Amino acid sequence: MTNIIEIQGLTKKYNGLTAVNDLNLTIQEGEVFGFIGPNGAGKTTTMRILTTLLQPTAGKAWVAGHSVTDDPRAVRRAIGYMPDFFGVYDDMKVWEYLDFFAACYDIPPATRAGMIDDLLALVDLGHKKEEQVEALSRGMKQRLCLARTLAHDPQVLILDEPASGLDPRARIEIRELLRELKNMGKTIFFSSHILSEVADICTTIGIIEAGQLVASGDMEQMKKQLRAHRLIQAQVVGEIAPLQEFLLRHPAVSTINDHSEADIPTNAVRFDFSGDDQTLSQLLADIIASGIRVTTFSEETGDLEDVFMQVTKGIIN
Ligand SMILES: Nc1ncnc2c1ncn2[C@@H]1O[C@H](COP(=O)(O)OP(=O)(O)O)[C@@H](O)[C@H]1O
Ligand SMILES: [Mg+2]
Repeated sequence: MTNIIEIQGLTKKYNGLTAVNDLNLTIQEGEVFGFIGPNGAGKTTTMRILTTLLQPTAGKAWVAGHSVTDDPRAVRRAIGYMPDFFGVYDDMKVWEYLDFFAACYDIPPATRAGMIDDLLALVDLGHKKEEQVEALSRGMKQRLCLARTLAHDPQVLILDEPASGLDPRARIEIRELLRELKNMGKTIFFSSHILSEVADICTTIGIIEAGQLVASGDMEQMKKQLRAHRLIQAQVVGEIAPLQEFLLRHPAVSTINDHSEADIPTNAVRFDFSGDDQTLSQLLADIIASGIRVTTFSEETGDLEDVFMQVTKGIIN
């Protein structure tokens, strides 16, 4: 595996404020890395350093083997960057917008037209080719901006909150597009302040808070850990003792609480369950088959970020 992005001891101070504080991170080729953190955590600052737009106060970073401080031109050739805001280009058609950026990357006029059609097809904007950029919806502008970052066929895509401010449908479209780009072999480094938004497309993830990386690691591994911490609540008609006894005998059930604890309704129990959906549905079938009359059986989702933070503290970094 090749380290396509490497960050060592990266620090950025703005006057008195430390926006990024001794950040260390390694991302391998072909990964989809989700950089997650609340607003003001230091995501944009980190990405602007990686894209050579900002000088670090201390520390080092390499993209595709090139130092961001010593060889910024080589870094820029290797990356496609989508900033967190979309510039305004008045009076420009969709194809002209892409043509302009392709020209900036010295792509010869003869190959530009075909390339623009390919890019528009990829982001599903072929039918908007002759429209004014300003007339596009927010989701379409975002996809156009993504197309623009691909003009020079970069190895690495650095995308700052690509799904932010989009409606659910447009978010799904961006997600599909990122999947497609991953399949094309691109490495994707993208940020979001919403964990659930990225959980199903990332291969690896890093959580940043107040300029510091508090957790990072493999998404599949984390999902497994999350599945091992499921909280289920079941309610029955009549006595809960038979259900409690039943659950006690089940190997995937650990802690069992009833209404003597906090906010649990009478005739209900809440228990920790470590297993997949299949095991869970089998458990419910077995409870019902044993004659216990279940009225509700549901998973408490809780706050994904909270669960995630608890889980990651135990297993990562
Ligand atoms: N140009 C700047 N000058 C001063 N402070 C800044 C500047 N840019 C960002 N900051 C501050 O640095 C911190 C990190 O910001 P940012 O990297 O934009 O975080 P994020 O992208 O995670 O929301 C914030 O406290 C922000 O106010
Ligand atoms: Mg930001």
